[in-house]
Amino acid sequence: MSAPERAVARVDLAAVGRNCEHLRSLLADGTRLCAVVKADGYGHGDVWCARAALEGGADWLAAATAPEAEELRRHGIRARILVMGALTREDARVALDSAADVVAWRPEFVALLDELARSDDVRANVHVKLDTGMGRLGTKDVDEARAVAAAIDASDRLELAGAMTHFATADEPGDDHFADQLERFRPFADELRDAHPGLVAHAANSAATYRDSAAHLDMVRCGIAIYGLDPFHADPAARGLEPALTLASYVAAVKRFEPGESAGYGRRWRAEEPTWVGTLPIGYGDGWRRGLTNNADVLVRGRRHPLVGTVSMDNITIDLGPETDVRPGDPAVLIGTDGDERILCEDVARRLDTINYEITCGLSPRVRRVHVRA
Ligand SMILES: Cc1ncc(COP(=O)(O)O)c(C=O)c1O
Repeated sequence: MSAPERAVARVDLAAVGRNCEHLRSLLADGTRLCAVVKADGYGHGDVWCARAALEGGADWLAAATAPEAEELRRHGIRARILVMGALTREDARVALDSAADVVAWRPEFVALLDELARSDDVRANVHVKLDTGMGRLGTKDVDEARAVAAAIDASDRLELAGAMTHFATADEPGDDHFADQLERFRPFADELRDAHPGLVAHAANSAATYRDSAAHLDMVRCGIAIYGLDPFHADPAARGLEPALTLASYVAAVKRFEPGESAGYGRRWRAEEPTWVGTLPIGYGDGWRRGLTNNADVLVRGRRHPLVGTVSMDNITIDLGPETDVRPGDPAVLIGTDGDERILCEDVARRLDTINYEITCGLSPRVRRVHVRA
């Protein structure tokens, strides 16, 4: 057993690779898999996960920001990278100088890209984004999207490389909006593809990739699923996914509590019976959020113990029960498995009324990331 460590996220890169292989198996031949590694690979480590995803069969990578793309390039990653987010002038320059594909939805931005490409003596691949119902980035106006495509065509520095949209409700099976969005996007994508045979049309995130093969088009952009987390917020195993991340700490102190004695700020939990309480040196400063106060479980020695009392910045307390063999130094699992017990990231998210994405993205830099191949 490894030495106790305060707060450590162990990321199994082999699981990331297997999740990509699994996602690939859902795609028709020729459909590409783009692994989304923005926000430091959803908190898992972007460069590590990008490499693991490429080994697992991903063809492209996607980032949200230009510095994220730059970081991947700095580590020698040569795969095609799509920067999906909005870019300032400075961001756009960084993206182009990192040989990343960028997204446009206004002719004025295409003019800026042309100017930057000229001044930096580079060429750039540009994807036109149609907002078919996400209501965020992209133009809602098909004519404006056409004008953007025409402006890209008119530049000898820019290549019209893709047409894209993004679904708002792919993870809500049964709603009509998803199908409406796809219906709005397809004719536009077909029109551009007819005029530009190499153009890549893409729309699907992880949920859409599972939900409807009609949404796969030429490429899918999967994030959450490559990390083995469930896009529908249920058990990832049911969809053939393996969670890559385990969050662990250790028991730093074990103390006897008499009835009425309390643990943590504000005395939000008091012992009702004589019991033992363990203190773990992990807290909201690590991303183990304060909303988990009296509202989570922790695994120690293969058994599930309730988190009791207020989550503080650097510590939490757990109820070990009236009799315990738990000793200071024992490892503790906050996300992951221990014996027959398992805590999913999705379980933690449910307790906080949020989604698995926010749990792993929220793990702070203070949590040491350890990358392994299990
Ligand atoms: C434009 C875009 N495409 C794809 C993704 C990947 O989504 P998911 O992690 O649900 O697969 C995201 C993530 O939020 C995104 O913003």
